[in-house]
Amino acid sequence: YPMTAPDDIRNCFDAHVEHPKHSLRGVHCCPKPPEPYYKPKDYMLPVIPKPRIRPAAQRVTAKYIKDYEWAIEKMKSLDDDDPHSWNQQAKIHCAYCNDAYIQGNNKDSKYRIQIHSSSLFFPFHRWYLYFYERILGKLLHDDTFALPYWNWDHPTGMMIPGMYEAAMVNKHDPKKKKERDPRNNHLFDGYRNVKHLPPVTMDLNHFEDTNTDPAMLVHQNLSIMRRQMKENAQSARFFFGKDPSPPNPYPRTSEPDVLAYRHEQTAGSIESPIHNVVHNWTGNPRLPMGEDMGDFYSAGYDPIFFAHHANVDRMWTIWKDLDHKNKEPKSDDWLNASYVSYDENRELVRVYNKDCVDTIRMGYKYEDSPIPWKDYKS
Ligand code: C2O
Repeated sequence: YPMTAPDDIRNCFDAHVEHPKHSLRGVHCCPKPPEPYYKPKDYMLPVIPKPRIRPAAQRVTAKYIKDYEWAIEKMKSLDDDDPHSWNQQAKIHCAYCNDAYIQGNNKDSKYRIQIHSSSLFFPFHRWYLYFYERILGKLLHDDTFALPYWNWDHPTGMMIPGMYEAAMVNKHDPKKKKERDPRNNHLFDGYRNVKHLPPVTMDLNHFEDTNTDPAMLVHQNLSIMRRQMKENAQSARFFFGKDPSPPNPYPRTSEPDVLAYRHEQTAGSIESPIHNVVHNWTGNPRLPMGEDMGDFYSAGYDPIFFAHHANVDRMWTIWKDLDHKNKEPKSDDWLNASYVSYDENRELVRVYNKDCVDTIRMGYKYEDSPIPWKDYKS
């Protein structure tokens, strides 16, 4: 059973979510297949003379925010089933993360694709952001456009970056109760935890709010960063997580024993807990599924998702720089695992893990930021 995904995108079903009746974003996450249907072509990385530079979100200029916001607005205005539309882009995450696709080429297979809690986590999201960034660049007619990263491993980045916030206004009567209006900022999302708006310091350690002292939180955050990037990440197996043992055990039904298997911990050291905790911290805990960021099916609807994952992706590059022994998994299964997606020219393409191990070859890198956790003493 190859770790390949999916053979034919038409073998796609509604996403599995915990409370389907309460789903605010819907469970129909399958992309529209091309007409007439064709098999995805293997994607070739274009040669890029100069890498795009992904900036830290807390340091971007007003001009950058305006451009980015404009591009998101444009994405939101595209036809719903246009592969470049806001909704279709969000649904990519839902499909790959909530068991929509069948693994392999057997239509009757009961195995579904779920790229989390496994060594597919880093490469899948790298490719997801790669096309997302190129689509935005195309809308902006700017092929230097680069996504921002949420620098949560540095004290100046340990809160929701200002660019994702909306001003408080009351459109009808400025003296009356003010609200955050999403129409003021397309990077804002109303489905977030109102207790975690800036300048509240985030907590990279806990799923529940345990303490709120900012200095203590920064201290704990830097400690866990060092631990998860160094002590607990001394080989590819621990940093990337386990290969999804073939076959990837995600049957169509949700019997209790199946769910138990799902929660087997095979995630890498950044995916869990840090990455998961940031999702949970950002989403709205009053909603049954914690939309948007608190559940994989809806996370892609919050623009901050892409900044969160840019920083997750940046951790992959930093981990490799920490020690020359730090390298990607070497198994053929991992190298040849693949994903299917529409590229920035709306062509259906297949991309491989082996082609995403070098960000410079992919045409981007990260603006430097100090790494205060590197030798942090806890
Ligand atoms: Cu695919 Cu941060 O989740």
